Amino acid sequence: MKNILEAPFMVEMIRTTTNMYAHGWDERNGGNISLLLDEAEVKEYLDTDHVIRAIPAGFSAPELGGKYFLVTGTGKYFKNVQYAPDVNLGIVRLTEDGETAELLWGFSDGGKFTSEFPAHMMSHAARLSVDPENRVVMHCHPANLLAMTYVHSLDEREFTRTLWQMCTECIVVFPEGVNVLPWMLCGTNEIGEATAEKMKNARLTVWALHGIYGAGKDLDETFGLIETAEKAAEIYMKIAHLPRVNTLTDDMMHQLEERFGVKGREGFLD
Ligand code: 13P
Ligand code: ZN
Repeated sequence: MKNILEAPFMVEMIRTTTNMYAHGWDERNGGNISLLLDEAEVKEYLDTDHVIRAIPAGFSAPELGGKYFLVTGTGKYFKNVQYAPDVNLGIVRLTEDGETAELLWGFSDGGKFTSEFPAHMMSHAARLSVDPENRVVMHCHPANLLAMTYVHSLDEREFTRTLWQMCTECIVVFPEGVNVLPWMLCGTNEIGEATAEKMKNARLTVWALHGIYGAGKDLDETFGLIETAEKAAEIYMKIAHLPRVNTLTDDMMHQLEERFGVKGREGFLD
């Protein structure tokens, strides 16, 4: 068996959580990540017949039966992942009925997966139904996106247009725009279902007064999506109270669509 701490997926997860903490997106235990793993790759590092514990998922996701995930632990601090990955992370396999997570590695202090496991798993199922390449669901609390939800309309078209207007390349990075959920109680199956529904037509879903969910084919792409939206929100929070003298127009954005071969979400541009 190879050393799991040297597995590319583990190294990348440790780097990503460390980087997210450094960006200030994950205070205390804020934020969580789940990464869908390839079974053959997991078998290079783990005896997959050895189940350490079975943890009830609290929901049913048969679409994900038999799938393996590397996931952050509930109550764990992203800043500590690099020092004790086996305590702060776990690898689980969902049973065929999608109701139980079998722990194969990690959570070595007796811990368990993030309280947002329902939102993560349901979002994986939703993203995979529209994009078979999707591997990552990432949640965090970036300050400017969060701040924006206190002062900006939560209408998805309005919210997206404002972000697109803040940096020339936003529409190129997330042409499908962002979805927005009103405040809901976190950690519940209800917010999980609502998030998954939103994830069907966009890789970014803002949780008003809480944070953001991103999804993507790898950790880098998902980090980059959130990074770009957060940068746009930062610019908005710097200029929102000032008279706007110049702005990106819809015509400019149509030029960007053409130049970069992307299409903004239907109806979001005039
Ligand atoms: P967990 O510590 O359970 O992952 O929760 C953090 C969080 O951000 C909840 O929304
Ligand atoms: Zn959160």
